[in-house]
Amino acid sequence: MNVLLIGSGGREHALAWKLKQSPLLGKLYAIPGSDALAGLAARPAIGAEDFEKICAFCSETKIDLVVVGPEAPLAKGITDFLTRRGIRVFGPSQKGAMLEASKQFAKEFMDRNSIPTASFTVLYSADFAREKIKENKKYPVVIKADGLAAGKGVRICCSEAEALAAVDDFMEKRIFGSSGSKVVLEEFLAGTEASVMALVDGETYLMLPVSRDHKRLQDGNKGPNTGGMGAVCPVQLPAADLEIIEKEVLARFVEGVKKERLGFRGLIYAGIMLTMDGPKLLEFNVRFGDPETQAIMPVLKSDLLPLLAACADGKLAGRELELTGETCVSVVAAAAGYPENPEKDRPITGLYNPLPGVQVFHAGTAQKDGGYVTAGGRVLSVSASAKDLGAARQRAYAALAKINFEGMQYRKDIGL
Ligand code: AMP
Ligand code: GLY
Repeated sequence: MNVLLIGSGGREHALAWKLKQSPLLGKLYAIPGSDALAGLAARPAIGAEDFEKICAFCSETKIDLVVVGPEAPLAKGITDFLTRRGIRVFGPSQKGAMLEASKQFAKEFMDRNSIPTASFTVLYSADFAREKIKENKKYPVVIKADGLAAGKGVRICCSEAEALAAVDDFMEKRIFGSSGSKVVLEEFLAGTEASVMALVDGETYLMLPVSRDHKRLQDGNKGPNTGGMGAVCPVQLPAADLEIIEKEVLARFVEGVKKERLGFRGLIYAGIMLTMDGPKLLEFNVRFGDPETQAIMPVLKSDLLPLLAACADGKLAGRELELTGETCVSVVAAAAGYPENPEKDRPITGLYNPLPGVQVFHAGTAQKDGGYVTAGGRVLSVSASAKDLGAARQRAYAALAKINFEGMQYRKDIGL
């Protein structure tokens, strides 16, 4: 099978690394890909959102499957565009992608389909939002910009002043453009988070091992929220929680998708909060998590390629997953200034001769003068697998100790 992978980050590097191990793989291509992906995939010079050209490329090169990494092309309808022209795609339709692209759509979908989640109100104007906030007596409260905001559109507000400032930023200043034309005011849920991902073929689902992201910049969950500073997989959840997640989140999601004809053949990511009242769904993403994927791929023994193709074909039923039995810890090395203002162009040393059991996935690097330099906020995901969590952590940090670039920041407590 010839495969075209859309995307360029650490998640795509991990997916490409895994796909490359498939005996079923013919040629692998990536659009736009990255310099680090060049060793695994050919990179035609086509923009990731130039659907016409992507389509022509797929026909010319006989692409058997397109795998879409990030949410933006999904929300712009890449799947609909390509499938209408007879190309097989792993990734939901534009309607399905609304589950990530609109918080309002997602929350109303959860409500219609009895999926446990935080209570919420949709606020359509800044005046109405301020009115509702002044009525609110319970803090913290959560305010979310309705549309895509690169993971920055959620504010946990501890006071009325903070909530009013969020409304001002999202709805008046429009710091995320039209994504802030509506906001969702949501009940704050306390607990521990878990990332639950499942392959979906429109009719059924196959759950991947549960993982956990670490979203805050600094150790002990301090500092600003980021796209994710590291992940661990698998995470053991109590059986009772797992049962609720399967029956009340994943099964109801699939039922809802069928009933509402959302055309969902791809990956669903359920961001779960394990609360005192049981698991509740925080959010849907409609693609593989980043950096969770960098911790999941190394512990997946099954061939990923036929599973993704089975999703695209609606033939996932009866498939099973095999795991290696190891634990993977993936630590993100981020640039100085991340998340606000990451410093670019810093030479990276120590990337070669990685330790056994370690994969270094590139998230934001570029090749320069025969080596790599930083080229993004999250620069690398250093993933280490071993027989248990302690050994995996030790390996990951031993590998990281060999890597360096000016201002490198990483958390020391990933997996704890
Ligand atoms: P989201 O983009 O909706 O997943 O939100 C990003 C992060 O904000 C989540 O991973 C949580 O850490 C936090 N968050 C979102 N909604 C809530 C909520 N209702 N209660 C507490 N934390 C939340
Ligand atoms: N790790 C969170 C996300 O992929 O959105």
